Amino acid sequence: MKILIRGGEVVTADARRKADVLVDGETIAAVGEDLAARADRVLDARGRYVLPGGVDAHTHFELAFGGVVSSDDFETGTIAALHGGTTTVIDFAVPEPGATLRSGYEAWRAKADGRTAVDYGLHVILRDGSEARLAEMDELVREGVTSFKLFMAYPGVYLLDDGAIFRALQRARANGSLITVHAENGHVIEELRRQALAAGRTEPIHHALTRPPQTEGEATGRAILLAELAGAPVYIVHLTAAPALAHVREARARGLRAYAETCPQYLFLTEDCYREPGFDGAKYVMSPPLRPRGHQEELWRGLADGTLQVVGTDHCPFCMHAGFAGLPAQKERGIGDFTKIPNGVPGVETRLVLLHDGGVRAGRFPLERLVDVCCTAPARIFGLYPRKGTIAVGSDADLVVFDPNRRLSLSAAALHMRVDYSPYEGREVTGAPSAVLARGEVVVEDGKYLGRKGRGRFLRRGAPMV
Ligand code: URP
Ligand code: ZN
Ligand code: ZN
Repeated sequence: MKILIRGGEVVTADARRKADVLVDGETIAAVGEDLAARADRVLDARGRYVLPGGVDAHTHFELAFGGVVSSDDFETGTIAALHGGTTTVIDFAVPEPGATLRSGYEAWRAKADGRTAVDYGLHVILRDGSEARLAEMDELVREGVTSFKLFMAYPGVYLLDDGAIFRALQRARANGSLITVHAENGHVIEELRRQALAAGRTEPIHHALTRPPQTEGEATGRAILLAELAGAPVYIVHLTAAPALAHVREARARGLRAYAETCPQYLFLTEDCYREPGFDGAKYVMSPPLRPRGHQEELWRGLADGTLQVVGTDHCPFCMHAGFAGLPAQKERGIGDFTKIPNGVPGVETRLVLLHDGGVRAGRFPLERLVDVCCTAPARIFGLYPRKGTIAVGSDADLVVFDPNRRLSLSAAALHMRVDYSPYEGREVTGAPSAVLARGEVVVEDGKYLGRKGRGRFLRRGAPMV
């Protein structure tokens, strides 16, 4: 099947120009002006942008957290991703405590294969720094799992001490993989949580107040220091706070291979959300938490000046109320105790439209930068480039025809994620996908899903370009 996408403005991370894109089978066959190719189908893209399919390097489908499981699985979550213009995700595989990395990897393959609507890769979470686990990293790297996540937060569940983190970084340096870090000082946070509960402070706002920006700043600086000592690159996930950003900026100025991602929620929402009436603040409970407004402009600046390379979503939805889609109580588990609210928010569908509206339309950065942070940089950093993340001959035909004038009102009812609320309920954005192609197939057109369950494939990733 040949598809000609005609007359759009083709945008990559480096350039934009009026051009046609010819898709032949699963890949891009040509990009050029007035391609007179014989095609089975022509998509009219005049007045629209043609963007690479989005690469979301941070999702959590079907993640167990605090006794519940995130409400999107690989089928529902990846269909929602396609509606929003994301055609590749990298999810986090979690081994059981004490179990092998391989068991986590296999459990996630079993959740995804046959269900996912998009191509996907996996990071694997390191829950201990034993020699046996580190040796397993080498094996997984050979199978295309070229990044791992570890935590400086959640003591007793995920937290690794500095020695274990350092050993993991050394191992990553040796096997060519990339360590991603959840950087919050878990021990200090644990103490603040204990003190808050003991004083009867149980409402959602205390989630934020017990995880102050300094705890993220300290941990980010420490993660970078450990990486520097190990001679390894490091990638900070979901960066939210000015002190953390300052550490990344300083490290990069010294030539260190320090990379960082932020997420739309930290660019559009603030700590005030936790003060919404009743228990509604629970909608925004995630870690790290939303910050006071001053941090937002710093993050936007960091994206524009290259201190931050990637926008991921950290998509990890939990329903507010019991009964939605037959699911049990999720966020409501934390009524009367904020520490029991499952951490995470929905977002895999809304990344591109929010970043276009708040980033490009608001004049904070050009369209090319949007493509870089949402498509190209995550593909490069996580070993998928140039197969994913760009528009070039030979690349997978993952493409978004994006209408810059289409208006969208964000609401849980109109979006496709399996969750009973949207953190952006009622927000109006301008600019949205009108068609999405995944490996050469039109999978979304004018808001209709045309794809097939299980069409996505596991991606064996190459070496991170870091
Ligand atoms: O609150 C969050 N971020 N939930 C997902 C797990 C994680 O730490 O990324
Ligand atoms: Zn995290
Ligand atoms: Zn996450």
